[in-house]
Amino acid sequence: MKILVINGPNLNMLGVRDVAHYGAKTLRDIEVLMQEKSLALGAILEFFQSNHEGFIVDFIQENYTLASGIIINPGALTHYGLSMRDALEDTKLPIVEVHLSDIHSREEFRKISVVEEIGLKQISGIGWNGYIESLEYLVEYLKKG
Ligand code: DQA
Repeated sequence: MKILVINGPNLNMLGVRDVAHYGAKTLRDIEVLMQEKSLALGAILEFFQSNHEGFIVDFIQENYTLASGIIINPGALTHYGLSMRDALEDTKLPIVEVHLSDIHSREEFRKISVVEEIGLKQISGIGWNGYIESLEYLVEYLKKG
């Protein structure tokens, strides 16, 4: 079972970005932790990060046919990235949306997610653990068939 793990704009700056919102781990740290967890769960992960919505659309289109599901932290694209949302929806794959911070308790503009409606689940506000929880949730969902 292959899962695409996609991170949007500015998530390459984790570790440098506001630690109060996003924690101290780098994206690489989080990917290593997910990789370890995936071995235990029997899943294969393919990681991708981009600061450009079009590159994320390209990645989704080029890789979804060989994938069973998608975990995505779209960064700020969460709130307005409609071409990314369409690309995700077109895959018809189960999608888990993850956010390090609690998008519902910050600025008003962060409360709206254009992905929420097409996702299986949104996990928000539990830091890097949200990525691990997303993986566990998606693998369990896929195993159930
Ligand atoms: C984020 C929340 C977004 O509002 C923000 O633009 C990000 C990261 C999070 O993980 O908490 O870049 O998706």
